[in-house]
Amino acid sequence: MSVPAETLGVSPAVQPASVGGLATLAPRDSAAAEQYRVLQQRLERLAARRPMRVIAVTSSTRGEGRSTTALNLALTAAEDGREVALVECDVRKPCLAQRLDLAPRAGLAEVALGNAELSQALCRLGRLSVLCAGDVKDPAAVLRSPRLPGVIDELRAGFGLVVLDAPPALAFADAERLASAADGALLVVRAQQTPREVVRLALETLGDSAVGIVLNQVDAGTLVHGKYLYADPTAA
Ligand SMILES: Nc1ncnc2c1ncn2[C@@H]1O[C@H](COP(=O)(O)OP(=O)(O)O)[C@@H](O)[C@H]1O
Ligand SMILES: [Mg+2]
Repeated sequence: MSVPAETLGVSPAVQPASVGGLATLAPRDSAAAEQYRVLQQRLERLAARRPMRVIAVTSSTRGEGRSTTALNLALTAAEDGREVALVECDVRKPCLAQRLDLAPRAGLAEVALGNAELSQALCRLGRLSVLCAGDVKDPAAVLRSPRLPGVIDELRAGFGLVVLDAPPALAFADAERLASAADGALLVVRAQQTPREVVRLALETLGDSAVGIVLNQVDAGTLVHGKYLYADPTAA
């Protein structure tokens, strides 16, 4: 099998910042923050070769670091001067409102079901705008809503970068659908934990949508020695 995705990023364990509710953000001067800047620059370079305005951040299974990666990538790009939208598409396990300490408001669920306008639901934090999951009663109905592609198109037209915090690729069919609606999908892989076969299966599932792999929670000591920088986690 040919594997289209290269390792685009390596994220060491983030030492939580002590400010506000931003508990999983990398402090700006940390090695982790630098790795998110590297990832953002590699994505920008890719954008010279293929459309990369809407990026779905997915993983094989839960807990590998999709939300952490999506949030840090979105913030890094906003700090770099881009207008960024971060969209919480993993409506079964929302976490962004809590992580960012946002007051409850309409979110993707209400917008996708036609009960709120996108402009009302977006929460603006400087150059970063966040669309949280909202009040989700039926996750599948939200993610299969015929309005959803239109919502993504509206975001595509209004922002320089749209980051989708997507469901796990192997668990739900709607993850694949979202990855296809995006310009590309990043597969987050929990370093030294996700089995190779599972990564291979997730890449197969994503097919041409997969643009790269982010190795997450890499041991910081190993990172310094560069062991992972050219690692292909799918190699036999
Ligand atoms: N690079 C990282 N450094 C430290 N903790 C992390 C990192 N990535 C994820 N985590 C933690 O692991 C847990 C799962 O991460 P999360 O991003 O919520 O995964 P997912 O969205 O894929 O389910 C969370 O408690 C998160 O804070
Ligand atoms: Mg998540």
